[in-house]
Amino acid sequence: MEGKSNQNLVFYVNGEKIIENQPDPKCTLLQYLRNKLTLTGTKLVCGEGGCGACTVMISKYDDKNHTIRHYSVNACLTPVCAVHGLAVTTTEGIGSLRTRLHPVQEQIAKSHGSQCGFCTPGMVMSMYTLLRNNPQPTMLQIEKYLEGNLCRCTGYRPILQGYGVFSKESCGMGEQCCKNKPRDKEDDNSNKENENYIPPYDPTQEPIFPPDLKVNYKEYNEKRLMFETNQVKWYRPVTLTDLLELKEEYPDSKIIIGNTEVGIESRFKNMKYSVLINASHVPELTDIKSTEDGIKFGASVTLSKVEEVLEKAKEDLPESRCRIFTAVIEMLKWFAGKQIRNTAAVGGNIMTASPISDLNPIFQASSAKLEVVSKGKTTRK
Ligand SMILES: Cc1cc2nc3c(=O)[nH]c(=O)nc-3n(C[C@H](O)[C@H](O)[C@H](O)COP(=O)(O)OP(=O)(O)OC[C@H]3O[C@@H](n4cnc5c(N)ncnc54)[C@H](O)[C@@H]3O)c2cc1C
Ligand code: FES
Ligand code: FES
Repeated sequence: MEGKSNQNLVFYVNGEKIIENQPDPKCTLLQYLRNKLTLTGTKLVCGEGGCGACTVMISKYDDKNHTIRHYSVNACLTPVCAVHGLAVTTTEGIGSLRTRLHPVQEQIAKSHGSQCGFCTPGMVMSMYTLLRNNPQPTMLQIEKYLEGNLCRCTGYRPILQGYGVFSKESCGMGEQCCKNKPRDKEDDNSNKENENYIPPYDPTQEPIFPPDLKVNYKEYNEKRLMFETNQVKWYRPVTLTDLLELKEEYPDSKIIIGNTEVGIESRFKNMKYSVLINASHVPELTDIKSTEDGIKFGASVTLSKVEEVLEKAKEDLPESRCRIFTAVIEMLKWFAGKQIRNTAAVGGNIMTASPISDLNPIFQASSAKLEVVSKGKTTRK
């Protein structure tokens, strides 16, 4: 695909720096991993964000809070161009039979949590992401992180029971839970000579975040990007003015954020977009502000972030003042799986205007205000 791009696409996969000088905006991260990097551990099953077999972990430096954020995504819906400046971890990056299995890989095998194995790398990566964020999760958190991963043959009990060892909590057996009982030597999972022995999870042994992405944060995140093939142009503006100008220049262009709607339209509904504008780095659209009336979210704020912010806001407000927050949080529980909510944005849900949208009815019922802007026009509410 010949074309011209204004710079290279740069990201890390399992600690290795990838530099792509002619990225194809139509290529998904999954296609890139499997076909270009031959990292075939990440599986393609549904190809539409529904099963979680393609789950990988993305790590991103948060410049405001000076922290690293780890989150799971469906690689089948993530455009490879959207991972510029990010670190991607696949199942190959955490362990293998050739080197050493990671406890999340070993645990699913030893607890009989895998049969055909197609779902397994996705399960592993969702659980791994959880442990990177919280080395001692609750059982509820384990269930939440795995809710976007489907298994057709094994069944969920052995997977959840197997991963229960990472939780501090006892299971429904209470005092009778095996974690509370002295073990027989044969059955002893803490005896290193036992073939069932699984090393405990040690977060200090995890690979470090690529320093380049931290040190050169501005270079990766505050620069406009343009990638082009002879079929598609991909823009990533970093100012609202630029976004509005691009929209005026290309009226038929498609703005994308999580690509969880547009990706489906392109792949399964034969929709063709020749100009894609990724609005994930426009400060006004990623901003979250507390106002007198409530909370104002930029259109590119992800659903996971919305949930996190509303949960936090509820802590400081009387119940009577946060019923709408509670309703949104409750609805998000049923909204897709964690991988989708980690990338899909609130603006994408509103603008799709789907009759089966989960958030629009709540926004309408609660008289939420919507602010729209276009080039040369005043902001309308
Ligand atoms: C497996 C799966 C499960 C899903 N489950 C649910 C569910 O349970 N409930 C539900 O409601 N939806 C669901 N969806 C739909 C989808 O995830 C949501 O609508 C999501 O919020 C879309 O966000 P996005 O950022 O991915 O949108 P994108 O695909 O990036 O964009 C969607 C649309 O919004 C437009 N848009 C985005 N931002 C702007 C902007 N700033 N200005 C103008 N236009 C803009 C785009 O041009 C595009 O037309 C699901 C999708 C998948 C794939
Ligand atoms: S392949 Fe099923 S979610 Fe990606
Ligand atoms: S082991 Fe076959 S789908 Fe889960």
